[in-house]
Amino acid sequence: MDTKFFSHIPVFYNEAVDALNVREDGIYVDCTAGGGGHSSLICERLKSGRLVAIDQDPDAITVLTQRFAGRDNVTVVKSNFENLGDILDSLSIDKVSGILADLGVSSHQLDTAQRGFSFHNDAPLDMRMSQDGISAADVVNSYDEKTLQDIIYRYSEEKFAPLIAAKIV
Ligand SMILES: C[S@@+](CC[C@H](N)C(=O)[O-])C[C@H]1O[C@@H](n2cnc3c(N)ncnc32)[C@H](O)[C@@H]1O
Repeated sequence: MDTKFFSHIPVFYNEAVDALNVREDGIYVDCTAGGGGHSSLICERLKSGRLVAIDQDPDAITVLTQRFAGRDNVTVVKSNFENLGDILDSLSIDKVSGILADLGVSSHQLDTAQRGFSFHNDAPLDMRMSQDGISAADVVNSYDEKTLQDIIYRYSEEKFAPLIAAKIV
């Protein structure tokens, strides 16, 4: 994995971490660790504390594992953060001092054509953050019009959902 794809400065880099009021002995969770920008800043502020860095994207996990190699107080977990309760249970953590979630897609996901998120590159639709399950291409090519309409409306509140769904099928 070419870590340069993850080398950008994340949004609200300092502000987001400042807002966590990181205590040097606290336990923190980065639910969307991505390239590890925010996670690194949290780490810099820890002494005896601990960080759990979660992402569902295997590319991010590769980068995070490299970036935090040798940091005993950082645990990198490949998972959807919807499993946060189970993740913390498995690490015997019953409470945390702060949780960060920088929601959305990463620059790596947008800029890597074969991931199929890009508006700029002509590449197959994929859009699977976790790189498993069905792709966006499968969805648009196999779901019926009503289901597509519901998905477009529900997740984007797009008032032209019926028109867009009709164009897809
Ligand atoms: C905007 S990037 C985060 C960038 C990160 N803050 C950094 O400093 O590099 C969003 C990340 O969240 C991950 N992500 C989005 N939804 C997720 C979910 N439900 N569970 C786990 N990871 C998720 C994506 O794979 C992506 O790597």
